[in-house]
Amino acid sequence: MNKMGLDVAVIGATGAVGEVFMRVAIERNFPVRNLRLLASSRSAGKQIKYGGELLTVRETNEQSLEGVDLVFCSASSEVSRIWGPWCRDREIIMIDDGSAFRMDDDVPLVIPEVNGDDLDTHNWIISIPNCTTTPLVMALDAMRQVSSIKRVIVATYQAVSGTGAAAVEELISQNISLSQGIDVSTPESYPVQIAQNVLPHVDDFDEDGFTKEELKMRNETRKILHHDSLPFAATCVRVPVFYGHSEVVHVEFSSEISLDDLGSALSSQDGLVYDDDQTHYVTPLEAADSDETFVSRLRLDPSVENGVVFWCVSDNLRKGAATNAIQIAESLLERGILSGS
Ligand SMILES: NC(=O)c1ccc[n+]([C@@H]2O[C@H](COP(=O)([O-])OP(=O)(O)OC[C@H]3O[C@@H](n4cnc5c(N)ncnc54)[C@H](OP(=O)(O)O)[C@@H]3O)[C@@H](O)[C@H]2O)c1
Repeated sequence: MNKMGLDVAVIGATGAVGEVFMRVAIERNFPVRNLRLLASSRSAGKQIKYGGELLTVRETNEQSLEGVDLVFCSASSEVSRIWGPWCRDREIIMIDDGSAFRMDDDVPLVIPEVNGDDLDTHNWIISIPNCTTTPLVMALDAMRQVSSIKRVIVATYQAVSGTGAAAVEELISQNISLSQGIDVSTPESYPVQIAQNVLPHVDDFDEDGFTKEELKMRNETRKILHHDSLPFAATCVRVPVFYGHSEVVHVEFSSEISLDDLGSALSSQDGLVYDDDQTHYVTPLEAADSDETFVSRLRLDPSVENGVVFWCVSDNLRKGAATNAIQIAESLLERGILSGS
């Protein structure tokens, strides 16, 4: 830890995102002076290594949060709704990984490469987008430099780590059972077995037949791109992959486009890697542990005017969560909104 820097609390330090958060903070040399690892009372007393130091997890409460400069919250909406207003009342910035505040008018929803300027109007709580929204919007933001976007249709292939650490354990245990010819025990993370299966069901169903995940993708994309009426439809699918969310994206533009122009725009986008070899593609296994969003298989869609289709992959725990959260904090430091001592 640094002598100079920020006193930082991580709520949800024992979770899937929390664990990656600490790895990314060390890799990026994020200026942490003191780190408080917080979780529920179940985890109080657990020890977790941060760099060379062994830190003890504490229960999240007023005492364990008192005096911090910055809070990263990666637990659940219920937890965010308790500690978000608590931080705001004390003028402490909370960067929240969950969906509790994402659509609030006074909460910036930020991907620094796309809409970092929205941070300037923060009201102490800042949200990061859903882990499927971030890679999609990075690609759309690059492409809209070529022509304005008329319509987006997306299908996702989402890893189980997007559900959290317990779902990763469940897929491991189902894989072991199946390899030994044993029946899979009653599923807990999903309505049915996820091993050797594909579920067109991420989060709860809404009354109009879409799932909440699909609506989150639509609403968050509109908010980040400042395009409130963007025609958008998503189908979100859970697949038995451990890490990395993939997406097939269909985009229609308002004027004629060329693959060369779109490819140049994608290549110019910070944090995005575009592969123009039509026969090559990036898989979630290759994208895992990487901070980049990978776009490949960009081709014209002959079924519509001015349309393209592409394949997009990124690590849901890194750019989809932890890395984006730390990049937001770095941007707050650069903008002078946040300062360490
Ligand atoms: N996984 C992803 O790819 C991803 C991506 C973007 C955003 N997110 C969001 O990030 C958040 C965490 O996701 P995750 O995948 O890391 O979940 P997870 O693996 O299930 O971890 C949940 C964490 O929340 C803590 N927690 C539970 N109840 C708590 C309480 N009452 N007070 C304080 N901490 C509590 C847990 O601590 P205990 O160990 O003590 O239970 C654990 O550290 C969710 O809001 C999720 O929507 C996740």
